[in-house]
Amino acid sequence: MTRDLTQTRALFERAKQTIPYGVNSNFRYWGDDDTLVIPRGAGAHIWDVDENRYIDYRLAFGPIILGHGYGPVVERVSSAIRDGTLFAWTTPLEIQVAERIARMTGVDKVRLGNTGTEVTMHALRIARAYTGRERFVKFEGQYHGMHDYVLFSTASTPASVLGCRRSPVNVPTSSGIPDGIRQYVINLPFNDVERLEETLEARWQDVAAIFVEPLMGNAAGIMPRPGWLEKIRELCDRYSIILIFDEVKTGFRIANGGAQEHFGIQADLVAYAKAMGNGFPIAAIGGKEAVMSVLEPGAVAHGGTYTGNVVGCAAADATLEILETQPIIETIYERGRRLMDGIHGTLTQAGIPHYVTGLPPIFGFILGTEEEPLDFRAYQAGDGALYEELIMALIERGVMPDGDGREPWFLSYSHSEEDITDTLTAFEEAVQQVKRSI
Ligand SMILES: Cc1ncc(COP(=O)(O)O)c(C=O)c1O
Repeated sequence: MTRDLTQTRALFERAKQTIPYGVNSNFRYWGDDDTLVIPRGAGAHIWDVDENRYIDYRLAFGPIILGHGYGPVVERVSSAIRDGTLFAWTTPLEIQVAERIARMTGVDKVRLGNTGTEVTMHALRIARAYTGRERFVKFEGQYHGMHDYVLFSTASTPASVLGCRRSPVNVPTSSGIPDGIRQYVINLPFNDVERLEETLEARWQDVAAIFVEPLMGNAAGIMPRPGWLEKIRELCDRYSIILIFDEVKTGFRIANGGAQEHFGIQADLVAYAKAMGNGFPIAAIGGKEAVMSVLEPGAVAHGGTYTGNVVGCAAADATLEILETQPIIETIYERGRRLMDGIHGTLTQAGIPHYVTGLPPIFGFILGTEEEPLDFRAYQAGDGALYEELIMALIERGVMPDGDGREPWFLSYSHSEEDITDTLTAFEEAVQQVKRSI
């Protein structure tokens, strides 16, 4: 079975003439043969330019919580933008969105932005300004966006260069990052209480913030061990360090109140983006009153021409209203649970060692081991090549998770019971295909 990708490849060739590597984000480049060009999506499905249909589990790396082109969101945006999109004054819509976020997540104060990168960058500045300290802790395999400070030992870093886990090496994810920045970052393995305690005991005076994705949204959805997030909270309190939850992937996805609600931990600052706008560019920093109050004009810089623009705000207003008033996330959990169980069942029956990680709205699995991966190093001990082969066999059958096992499967409200049934059928066939090759 091979899809016809004639038009796709021709258009991708054209893209490369003017766009470096034919993509506007390096994460989208799958090589000359497999990078798709997608003109449209509807609900849980997307189509390439050759009209091959896929049940979409990448969901643009997480934002699509309701479905592609979701009617009520599109209508709210279309109607709002007729009256203009940008005024460089506060709009009533911004106030309403901030109120919704505060009500749903329990944060006191909210500032809006456009992308995850933008709000994690500002969150770090706020934490530094509040504490008067400059360094911060992050965890290996966690990704917080494209600004220089956080691009060390991310999910793109091979385990072989991370160094000894007692003294991890900060590995830049990219050329072009000034070497001096390395000194501000302390990377540690996720879920390792002992390493974190030791590090803070020795260095807390310098540490402004602990940045954490509460579950590893860029490493197969690896879960926090019971007590891990509580320990981080306790240590932040003990040493007056700002706890920043990066909820760009978990926010408005694993619960209406995100990871704070799901795990029952209140952070000091929280970064939101993705699901809050169902695919429109909108992001937010939420936080405790005392911490957010440093954003005083003339004191701590935060701004941007497009922050609070009408397009993103109208999308967030509609998306959050739907999440607040309809059983969206509950439904996603039910269908996602069925999918996770089905995947586990099929792999078990085929005798392929595996471990399924994450939560139904954002989950992953690791092949080649039955041990729960607890950090990024453990994740990389899995069989990534077999995973990719399996996913490519699935894509041939019209089911589209990301080919890289670090990127979780995402579900939307538009994934129907029928989509799940079709996915599980395709999964069984794909497993049989790769089983023949191992
Ligand atoms: C946890 C996390 N933080 C931040 C970002 C950056 O968000 P954006 O791509 O909107 O800049 C991402 C993107 O995937 C992410 O997964």
